[in-house]
Amino acid sequence: GADGVSLERVVINGPQGASAEVYLYGATITSWKCDGKERLFVSKQAKLDGSKPVRGGIPLVFPQFGPGDLPQHGFARTRRWTLQYAEEHGQGVVVNLQLKDNEDTRASKWPYKFDLLYTIDLTATTLSTIIKYENVDSQPFSFTSLMHTYLRVPDIASTTVTGLKDVVYVDKIKGGGDLVEERDAVTVNANEDRVYVDVPGIVKVNYGNESIAIRRFNFKDIVLWNPWAEKAAEMSDFADDEYPQMICVEAGTVASKISLNPGQTISCGQILTFEGSASHI
Ligand code: BG6
Repeated sequence: GADGVSLERVVINGPQGASAEVYLYGATITSWKCDGKERLFVSKQAKLDGSKPVRGGIPLVFPQFGPGDLPQHGFARTRRWTLQYAEEHGQGVVVNLQLKDNEDTRASKWPYKFDLLYTIDLTATTLSTIIKYENVDSQPFSFTSLMHTYLRVPDIASTTVTGLKDVVYVDKIKGGGDLVEERDAVTVNANEDRVYVDVPGIVKVNYGNESIAIRRFNFKDIVLWNPWAEKAAEMSDFADDEYPQMICVEAGTVASKISLNPGQTISCGQILTFEGSASHI
């Protein structure tokens, strides 16, 4: 609920003017500045009071992607995480947040005991986000999870996504069977909601002479989403005219499940790297 506690956030000041900001509510990163510009999109209508998931930044999806037994995208993005520690290292700053099961999650349709450690590492040109998932229950469990990254782009019309060619995808809007991406440079010009399955390498979002490279480990899939005008109009926390300024390119494992035995852990994450051809960095 909107209790004020959820407004707590950590501002991370990194090298060469890089910075990031993370709310304890949902461990949602709401800002990543690099080379003098904001790289993440947060709607001007986003709720930042804990009354609903933040519309923008990097909300965390766990333990369920999309609709299902639990609320849409699971409960991790609406829980208050705890700050473990923050420290500087040679290249930047690292911050750790933790989420464990509690009475509410144990009473949910996903009742297991878990321990998530979220490590956010900021350098001059990178934002690395890693979750270590641990099964602290006495029975196995499985889940889907994803980093729902909203990237800020100057104009969706001149934005491309590369690294998806020949990848099988599921079109959540048009439906139908498995399709194969044929384009080197994917563009978005309509309400788009796709799950690219088992993406092999680096995915890049390119605009102007800048790119954001997305490197993943132990996350198999990439979700591509833009609500366009019609879906934007349906969302109370998204302004009607904002969709040309964003693209969601979301690293996760959602087409299959991650399974952990009691005592087992897995670390999954992404590294976003700013690449600017005309940059001084
Ligand atoms: C995407 C899903 O990851 O998230 C879309 O593929 C969904 O189907 C979108 O609409 C936003 O979800 P939400 O719950 O934050 O509105």
